[in-house]
Amino acid sequence: MNKLYNTNSIVKTLLNWYGTNKRDMPWRKTKDPYKIWLSEVMLQQTQVETVIPYYNRWIKKYPGFTDVMKAKESELLKLWEGLGYYNRCKNFYKAVDKVANDYNGKIPDVLNEFIKLTGVGDYIASAVLSISYGQNLPALDGNIIRVLSRVLKKKKVSPYNRKIIYNHMLRWMKYGHGGDINEALMDLGSMLCRPNQAHCYQCPFVNSCGAYQTGVPEAYPKRLSKKKIPEYNVVTGIIWKNDKFLIMLRENKKHLGGLWEFPGGKIKNGENFKDALKREIFEECGLNANIENKIGSFKHIYSHFSINMSSFHCTVANGSQVKTQQEYHWIDPSQINDYAFPKANHKIFSILNEKSWCV
Ligand code: ADE
Repeated sequence: MNKLYNTNSIVKTLLNWYGTNKRDMPWRKTKDPYKIWLSEVMLQQTQVETVIPYYNRWIKKYPGFTDVMKAKESELLKLWEGLGYYNRCKNFYKAVDKVANDYNGKIPDVLNEFIKLTGVGDYIASAVLSISYGQNLPALDGNIIRVLSRVLKKKKVSPYNRKIIYNHMLRWMKYGHGGDINEALMDLGSMLCRPNQAHCYQCPFVNSCGAYQTGVPEAYPKRLSKKKIPEYNVVTGIIWKNDKFLIMLRENKKHLGGLWEFPGGKIKNGENFKDALKREIFEECGLNANIENKIGSFKHIYSHFSINMSSFHCTVANGSQVKTQQEYHWIDPSQINDYAFPKANHKIFSILNEKSWCV
């Protein structure tokens, strides 16, 4: 008997569409909750194409959940380097530790338990439990909300309308297939029902979509205007002593905490680059640095702010001692790969590789 025998016709149409159009992704070759969970954490705020190489490298190094249980946070951050939103990685590490200690190493398969883990919200819990165990839990991500807002002709993504969307999906899941329904809608949103361009003529919902009938499906749901983000001018120094340069570990509770960086910081109003850098270096590590040649400048955009970063070579007298509470190392360029750095620091490394590492 066809496994969709008991499913209503709209869901059958959706799942048939998914059967022929499903995107190929490495985490779709498994139901292992550890792998699905990891993929969902990586996919938050990040495109599928960006995640795939990170996911593959991670699974190669940590094929099973017990392998992550034995890992150090710094090793995980190194694998996460460049993917951004590092709290996702640190929260995953905390959650893995809790599963190891409180759940005997078995990932909970009940929503009320899974959701107690650090970094696990409604979305992640529902996505993992529906995909791994077929539980009928709608996982409302951006794509699904857009598709359902259009089908149901909802202009506003209010908490009330989210609830309507959630309940509508629950009805679609009445005969099962929770994971497939979630992933089919994610693919539909990403491939056809796109924010600025809805390809309605290829869509399995074309005859039942409220937004399509208005003639302007892209107007649903109404998008919020983006807030302008602040911009800061920042200066950093590559401080040399005996052919090695100084790197410092960012405090764990700070933005990018747990990653390594060069000393430096924000330029104050009225300060020039060199004075700012001299001040920052003294405040951060108690060194009296000579600011030498400029390495380069570039812009880097984070989620909530952007920076204009300028970087300089610096030197210190041979006997100078670092005074700081932070962990630090003097390293040479061949050791860069042993530490995780933010993307902005890699931009400095690229400039140095193109030019020369010499002062
Ligand atoms: N985005 C987040 N989770 C996803 C999934 N399981 N499939 C496709 N896109 C996704």
